[in-house]
Order: sequence, then C-alpha cells, then structure tokens
Amino acid sequence: MLRLKINGTERVVDAVLDDSTPLLWVLRDELGLVGTKFGCGGGFCGACTVHLNGEPARSCQVRAVDAAGMAITTIEGLASTGGELHPLQQAWLDHDVPQCGYCQAGQLMSAAALLKKKPTPSDADIDSAMSGNLCRCGTYQRMRAAIHTAARNLRGRRS
Ligand code: FES
Ligand code: FES
Repeated sequence: MLRLKINGTERVVDAVLDDSTPLLWVLRDELGLVGTKFGCGGGFCGACTVHLNGEPARSCQVRAVDAAGMAITTIEGLASTGGELHPLQQAWLDHDVPQCGYCQAGQLMSAAALLKKKPTPSDADIDSAMSGNLCRCGTYQRMRAAIHTAARNLRGRRS
C-alpha cells in the first residue's frame, strides 16, 4: 500500500506495486488521473510533467515510492478548488494554444512552475523553462504569448 498526497488530498494506492513503478503509471492507471500524459517514457518529452513540492518533475522518471511524502500536483489540481481556471489555463484558451493537445498538460505544469519562480519572465526565461517540453504541433509561439498574458494577469491580481 502506498499513500500519496496529490492535489492536496491523500490518496491510498492499494495495488501491489514494484518499487520501480513510475509515478506516472500510478497516477494514470491506479488513480485515474489521466490528464498527465505518457509520451516518450524516457524523460525526453515533458508530456508527463507534474510538480513535486512545487518543482516540475517528469513523472515517468520518478518512482512512485519516492514521491510518497511529497506534495504532488497534477494538471487536475492546477485550477482553484472552486473550479476557477488557473490564469495560464485561461490564457491558453484566449490564445487558442492547443492543436492536438497531447503535450499541453505538461506544458502548463512547466509554465506554472516558471511563473511561481519568475512572475515577470523574459522570452529567454520562457524558452529555457519550457525547453524540455516538446510539442510536435509547434505551438511554441502561442505558448510564449500565453505565458506573458498569464504573467500580466497574475501580477494584476496581486497589485
Ligand atoms: S513521458 Fe515522461 S518525459 Fe516523455
Ligand atoms: S499541441 Fe499537439 S503535440 Fe503539442
């Protein structure tokens, strides 16, 4: 049995897990949190990005047993508990960012981690923070614009 704190709630995984089972498998297959995507499975594409204690992490490369005791945030936990979209999610809609959409949960999680650290990111900051998240549809320019919009909106909320 494994206890994981996910999106502020303790979740118990009863399945018998191998110690090497990736967190991504547990999120998707055991807990039904399928917003986090399986892309390459090798740590190269970023589709599986979640936050561990606020830091972006590739959930295909993290053993589930190692995530126990950490605060895990998935795309399902990015919006407020009241259901209000995260400013990034709203900006994604406003800029029509997604194409096929497959990479986008991971992109949003990386972008959210960036804005926590850098409320006013430069283009270079964005490119650097997002460089590990691949998009085969080439939505990079729209994502960059949406991140700037979300950053402005977040700053407006705080002022
Ligand atoms: S599925 Fe984890 S980095 Fe690609
Ligand atoms: S929107 Fe299709 S892979 Fe990124």
